[in-house]
Amino acid sequence: MHEFSLRHLRCVNCKSELELQVFDESNEIDEGIILCKNCDSKYPIISKVPILWKDLVSYLSNRAQLGGHLMNNTKNLILKTMIRNSLAKINKNTDDVTDLEKRWVVTYKNSLKSRFYSHIKNSLEKIPKSKLVLEHGCSIGQVTKILGQKHEIVFGIDQSFVAIMEAKKINRKNMDFFVANSLFPPFGDRKFDLVVGLNVLELIEPLDFLKVVLSQVKGILILSDPYDFERGKNSVRVRLDPKSLRNELKKHGFSFIQKSKKPSFIPWKLNVNNRLSLHYQVDLIIARNSTRVSFGS
Ligand SMILES: C[S@@+](CC[C@H](N)C(=O)[O-])C[C@H]1O[C@@H](n2cnc3c(N)ncnc32)[C@H](O)[C@@H]1O
Ligand SMILES: [Zn+2]
Repeated sequence: MHEFSLRHLRCVNCKSELELQVFDESNEIDEGIILCKNCDSKYPIISKVPILWKDLVSYLSNRAQLGGHLMNNTKNLILKTMIRNSLAKINKNTDDVTDLEKRWVVTYKNSLKSRFYSHIKNSLEKIPKSKLVLEHGCSIGQVTKILGQKHEIVFGIDQSFVAIMEAKKINRKNMDFFVANSLFPPFGDRKFDLVVGLNVLELIEPLDFLKVVLSQVKGILILSDPYDFERGKNSVRVRLDPKSLRNELKKHGFSFIQKSKKPSFIPWKLNVNNRLSLHYQVDLIIARNSTRVSFGS
């Protein structure tokens, strides 16, 4: 984690300002703890990655394998104990998503050449430079990286530790990545000039997610989705479609730019392995908040 990030972060549990305890640092903070003096929450920084989750027990509850790996690879004794104590409290019968999250990292690394990402790159080129940008569900940072080349400060959050570890390899001084839940983001009431959330609506409860992003954005909001909601017991409760999504945004004072008033079908090919690819057609929305002042000069 970069030290500059701290001033943008707030406690996930009480939104208070945070303090930093550094155990090991190189060009950034490798190991440490982020503390909330108000509610006593403690968030670990392991392998440069802050886990800004409500609490470590709930984060590791479906990632026991990751927890074991983190415990073995953390140098600092306080952090090791924190992970060990959290692992001791988790329910051992919960499904472990560690391997699944690792497989998705491989898929995203295999899919960087998809036309979807060059389309997004072109759209982002038309957006004015801004000060503070957030990408939700950023995975390995393939789009965050493009954002970081233009905007002043860019943050990416994702619930997958392995994906964020991969994103951290981008290693730009104006960008940082955090493990965090988009529904409980670690920024308090902070506003962003540009908020991006690509292909997350079937994983993050859409209306709850919209409520969060609408409260965060003061300029432009970019959303995309293939509306692939058939996910059995993991399906979201309320499904949106191109029309209802646009109506929600309109209701909150957004208008659509870059011809995104109408639904689009942008090819998004995910190469799972050399025998399996997923072919999606993605709808892209670029919306401007017409009710608030945005983008400084
Ligand atoms: C389908 S992938 C899309 C990745 C990337 N945005 C893209 O379009 O290439 C969805 C991402 O959202 C993340 N995710 C799912 N639920 C999340 C949550 N509640 N908070 C943060 N990230 C979440 C997943 O870990 C995954 O990396
Ligand atoms: Zn707190």
